[in-house]
Amino acid sequence: MDLKGSKVLLTGGSSGIGKATAIALLNKGADVLITGRDKAKLISCAQELNCKYVLMDSSNFDEIPGQCKEAVDMLDGVDILINNAGIGTFDLLDDISIKDLQAIYNTNVFGVALITQEIIKHFKEQGSGNIINIGSTAATKGFAHGTVYSSSKFALRGMTQCWQSELRMHNVRVMLVNPSEVPTAFNVDDRKEKGLVDNKLHPEDIAHAIVSNLEMANRGFIPELAVWASNPF
Ligand SMILES: NC(=O)c1ccc[n+]([C@@H]2O[C@H](COP(=O)([O-])OP(=O)(O)OC[C@H]3O[C@@H](n4cnc5c(N)ncnc54)[C@H](OP(=O)(O)O)[C@@H]3O)[C@@H](O)[C@H]2O)c1
Repeated sequence: MDLKGSKVLLTGGSSGIGKATAIALLNKGADVLITGRDKAKLISCAQELNCKYVLMDSSNFDEIPGQCKEAVDMLDGVDILINNAGIGTFDLLDDISIKDLQAIYNTNVFGVALITQEIIKHFKEQGSGNIINIGSTAATKGFAHGTVYSSSKFALRGMTQCWQSELRMHNVRVMLVNPSEVPTAFNVDDRKEKGLVDNKLHPEDIAHAIVSNLEMANRGFIPELAVWASNPF
């Protein structure tokens, strides 16, 4: 698809991978609306990028229909949904709690499903659309300390495959992008961005993968794409 003039709703666009993706899409001429939970951070990022925003916590389920409507109204339509907002917690099975499970699943799984449910109404009506779900390499292989996060991304991968089956006949492309480690504010207690590391992935690398996937002609799409650092050791 041609990204110029496309209308993009990008969740969690105020830092890290989401912010880099917003910049890459804006550089392609897209109209981008970002969401986030931290109001000051979101407004400052939207001002820096000169893009639209809606304050939206994906885990506040009751607010999702109204906030999605507000976003689509501000964009005057929607062509691309990027489900990027995500959080993690990493404990041994011995130490996890129902509170952790619910908090991570609320954002990484349930909120994604409910936001996508709102946006596909528009995609079905117009007979086209694109969904990029940001998974993780943790969506395909479990690991020690990964019970909560990894299983939530496995669930996202499962939902992606269900939506591919349900939405293909409506010309909606549903794609999962699975980054390996990217030093960002992800899983950092004070939410401060980690510094870039030369031999690890940068947020721009994931943005590049997302943009490339979207730019493929509409007759095709890459259902699932992993991005690894060449030599992170
Ligand atoms: N970094 C990695 O190594 C890595 C690897 C694989 C996959 N991923 C995935 O990549 C995605 C982006 O992560 P990142 O590394 O860029 O992390 P990040 O720098 O912490 O950015 C996360 C973004 O999501 C927003 N967000 C978090 N929870 C939200 C919620 N409930 N509602 C709305 N916005 C919310 C944050 O806004 P606030 O600051 O306002 O909360 C922020 O804009 C996540 O889905 C993550 O699981 C990351």
